[in-house]
Order: sequence, then C-alpha cells, then structure tokens
Amino acid sequence: MLETLAIKSDLERFNGWRSAFKDFDIHVLDWDQVTDKSQIDYALVWDPGPGVLTEFANLKIIFSVGAGLDHLKGENILPPGIPVVRMVEDGLTAGMVEYVLYTVLRFHRFMPQYERDKQNKVWRELVQIPASKRTVGILGLGVLGGNCAKTLVQLGFNVAGWSRTPKQLPGVGCYHGAAGLDHVLAMSEILVCLLPLTHQTQHLVNAETLAKLPKGACFINAGRGACQVESDLIAALDSDHLAGAALDVYEFEPLSPKSPVWTHPKIYFTPHIASMVHPDTSAIHVYDNIVRHRNNQALTHLADMDAGY
Ligand code: NAP
Ligand code: GLV
Repeated sequence: MLETLAIKSDLERFNGWRSAFKDFDIHVLDWDQVTDKSQIDYALVWDPGPGVLTEFANLKIIFSVGAGLDHLKGENILPPGIPVVRMVEDGLTAGMVEYVLYTVLRFHRFMPQYERDKQNKVWRELVQIPASKRTVGILGLGVLGGNCAKTLVQLGFNVAGWSRTPKQLPGVGCYHGAAGLDHVLAMSEILVCLLPLTHQTQHLVNAETLAKLPKGACFINAGRGACQVESDLIAALDSDHLAGAALDVYEFEPLSPKSPVWTHPKIYFTPHIASMVHPDTSAIHVYDNIVRHRNNQALTHLADMDAGY
C-alpha cells in the first residue's frame, strides 16, 4: 500500500504541491482532508502549532516547508523521537543567491548614493572599487551562506564567513567562535546575515557587534529578523557608522505600521521574500528522503533540534 504524505499549505499552494509529487509513488493529501490521522506516514508542514503533530500516531518523518525551523519550536509542537528534515532545495538556494548578490552589488556599486543624487539632481561620479578590494562577511556558512559565499568568490570578492563549527570553503576565509566573529566583523565592509534563529544567534547583531564593523559598512539580513536588534541597527545608521542596510527579515513580522523601518532612508525593505520554497524542486528533496527512509538509509539535512537548526 502506498504511504501517505500530508501537506499543510493553503489550497492554491497545495495544488502546486500535488502536481509536484504527481510522478512519485507517494499518496499526497491536503492537511484539511485528513480524516484518519493514523494513516499519515509523513508530514510536510509550516507552522503546525502546538498539539497538532502529536496527534499523528504513525508519523515517520516531519518535513519543514522552510529552511528555518522557528515554526517547529515551542511547547508540545514536535512529537518526541520523530526526525525533522529541513528544507534544502535548489530553488530556495538559487533565490537566496540572487537576493544576496543583488543587495551586495547594490551597496558595492553605490546604488543608494546614486538614487539620492538623482533625487537631488546631482551629477557625481564615485570612484568604483574593484570586487577584489571589497570584503563581504557572511554570518552563517550553511547551505545558503555557503552558496552565496561561493558565488561572491566567483565574482572576485574577498569573502570571510563565520560558522559555529570550523569549516573550509574554497576561496573563503572561514572563522568560527567568538574570536572568529570579531575578526569577520572587523573586515566586513558589507555584512550578510544568513544565520538561523537560535538561543545563540538571537540579537547577535546589536550595538556592540555593529560597532565592530568598519565605519561606512552596510548590513544585509536575509536570515531571521530576531538575529538583529532593530533599534541598535537604526541607531548605527543614524550615527552614520553604517552607510546602509537591506532587510528582508524583521524582529516582528509582519512589520508594524509604526516601525521606523518603513520610512528610514537608509534601509532597503523587502517583506521576507529573499527566497521562497518551490514545490517542484522541494518535492525532489522530500521524495529523496522518503526513499532513503524506505531503504533504511540515513536522511539528508536532518535538523538538530537541540542545536536549534
Ligand atoms: P544551515 O545550512 O543550517 O546553515 C546555518 C549556518 O549558521 C551554519 O553555517 C551554522 O554553523 C551557522 N550557525 C548556526 N548557529 C551559529 C552560531 N551560534 N554561531 C555561528 N554560526 C552559527 O541553514 P541554511 O539553509 O543556510 O539557512 C539559514 C537560515 O536562512 C534559515 O535558518 C532561515 O532562518 C533563513 N532563511 C531565510 C529565507 C528568507 O527568505 N529570508 C529563506 C530561507 C532561509 P555550522 O556550519 O557550524 O553548523
Ligand atoms: C524562509 O524564511 C525559510 O525559512 O525557508
């Protein structure tokens, strides 16, 4: 008998998921159509809430619809002992590489200054800095940070990255731990945050860490908003210690109408769209792990819920 994958998604998205799985030997069910929870083998979910997954008595794997796992943290959300697999898929990675490249190049090529100059009818040529003379720091050298680092290296940037455990990536200066962070901050003219939100990374980008960046640096956050203290970031922009920021994620989402971010002239805003999960490419990753499970093979991209990512 075919196993069943229940998908928690809105109807429009569910139709996309169903079509993405159509060539795979797995029965796909919309979450709202589940009548017998004991018949569900796998769950692909975003934000299931407390006490929901615990009712599925025969679950074998929980797949996160997102790369981030914040939606699976908290009391009584995850049933004990069931493996959780993060979303790692080519479409999501490609989207993040595009976003990071776009925002890095925007700051690197002084686009915010030219946009202001146009408003003020100022003709001014700023001296172009070669990529090889520009250091981009990346906090988080995982799937997304690592791929962004690789692309920036290919473009000739000097790239320094920071991770929790020691890493080696071709052409990238790799640092870890507290001393490593200071080193990366001190070098980064453009700092990109691609960290997951954990107890260790919460509010990591604050007045103290921002002060360690070179004057005139720019900050990009496409990881999680609660990794930054927004009021400290705004203070650093207002004092001209930072030249600009591109934020895709915020401490509280959706951003409150009262947030100073909306009107801040030095903040480039996007509403958590840096990268999105694509059903077609995600289905390949999910199905691959289902087959691995069937064959008693190790799963890929297993989450470590104790570490928080
Ligand atoms: P990942 O592969 O798990 O990579 C996480 C990286 O962060 C790893 O390099 C890890 O270090 C590092 N890290 C974790 N805790 C750390 C700490 N305390 N100190 C230093 N480094 C630490 O995750 P990913 O797939 O790249 O995704 C990263 C995050 O991007 C997700 O968690 C999600 O929040 C965010 N995201 C945002 C969007 C968007 O649209 N804005 C889209 C997708 C994902 P190790 O290598 O040593 O483990
Ligand atoms: C998006 O933010 C994700 O975690 O995939």
